[in-house]
Amino acid sequence: MTEAILLVGGKGTRLRPLTMHTPKPMVPAAGVPFLTHQLARARAAGVEHIVLATSYLAEVFEPYFGDGSALGLHLEYVTEVEPLGTGGAIRNVASRLRSAPDEPVLIFNGDILTGLDIEALVDTHRTTGADVSLHLTRVEDPRAFGLVPTDATGRVTAFLEKPQTPEEIVTDQINAGAYVFNRSVIDSIPADRPVSVERETFPGLLAAGAHLQGMVDSTYWLDLGTPQAFVRGSADLVLGRAPSPAVPGRCGDRLVLDTAEVAPDAKLTGGTVIGAGAVVEPGARVDGSTVLDGAVIEAGAQVRDSLVGAGARIGARTVLEGAVIGDGAFVGADNELRAGARIWCGARIDAASIRFSSDQ
Ligand code: GDD
Ligand code: MG
Repeated sequence: MTEAILLVGGKGTRLRPLTMHTPKPMVPAAGVPFLTHQLARARAAGVEHIVLATSYLAEVFEPYFGDGSALGLHLEYVTEVEPLGTGGAIRNVASRLRSAPDEPVLIFNGDILTGLDIEALVDTHRTTGADVSLHLTRVEDPRAFGLVPTDATGRVTAFLEKPQTPEEIVTDQINAGAYVFNRSVIDSIPADRPVSVERETFPGLLAAGAHLQGMVDSTYWLDLGTPQAFVRGSADLVLGRAPSPAVPGRCGDRLVLDTAEVAPDAKLTGGTVIGAGAVVEPGARVDGSTVLDGAVIEAGAQVRDSLVGAGARIGARTVLEGAVIGDGAFVGADNELRAGARIWCGARIDAASIRFSSDQ
């Protein structure tokens, strides 16, 4: 039985203010902490033992997931004293692994929503006899990712993390953030110092002649590292476009958690999630958005492609489009906040004081 490591120690800076008090993998997507979807998908692929490599806000994971038995998993937690980077984090959990040196270990970035066939990746790894196998996907603009060119047989020929010059953009295949490592390769990463698996381990292995195998898979794939992507991913889970056994309820246009109160004439569309105890007042419209627990959307407000934090309040007739409202923030009536607007946790915006509109 293949075991897995989940990398969940990043600071999630691009998702601020949502990640000020909550690590990225614990921000709710489709009604449950995002990590739940990854754990449930790994379990469905036959993984039973998962080690979480934690660093930033490490203390919140274990109280929520415990020993993992609710998900049919055996979970362990290892916290870095100082962040060790992706490679250092992998090495740091090695003592918890049970696999023999030549056995495969799955490794996942903790912010990826994907329909990847995990078992197919392990099969590819076994049949090609690779030292490391990587899930690859194709994207239009690869610059924000690790570029991974391969030869005709899928063998990796280079690894270029976040290329800085146009000459380095040699492929549209990127590292999709899921790997199979032979256990012995994990043990060969230097211990007790920061290591980037992307900038150090992969290029080093290639230079030493190791066999890195790529598996291009064009299923659903999204890195939820930005607010826009996070909201999109949550909506796609609700709509059933992104597969997860952990969505609490039937897939459809909306997901309204048990204790939420939604006025009969409010319109919820496009994979909107309304969290526990949240309120949507009459005439409000919420499309493609995530409204976290206890938030209030007042009468006639229009919320689109936005994330409204826990306990936040959106005033009557206010328009949000592509905005992020931090936990507990208050946006008064008759405001207009559009693409990229971010309101910090607990902030207060008076009525009719902001009209931020790209078309003016
Ligand atoms: N434990 C631990 N310690 N985890 C970490 C640390 C650390 O010091 N640093 C990052 N992580 C975790 C993050 O929580 C995340 O789950 C994962 O490692 C990747 O970090 P990101 O910060 O999300 O990296 P990225 O999105 O810029 O790039 C990575 O993912 C891309 C695909 O989405 C790289 O792996 C790219 O090569 C890849 O294309
Ligand atoms: Mg990421």
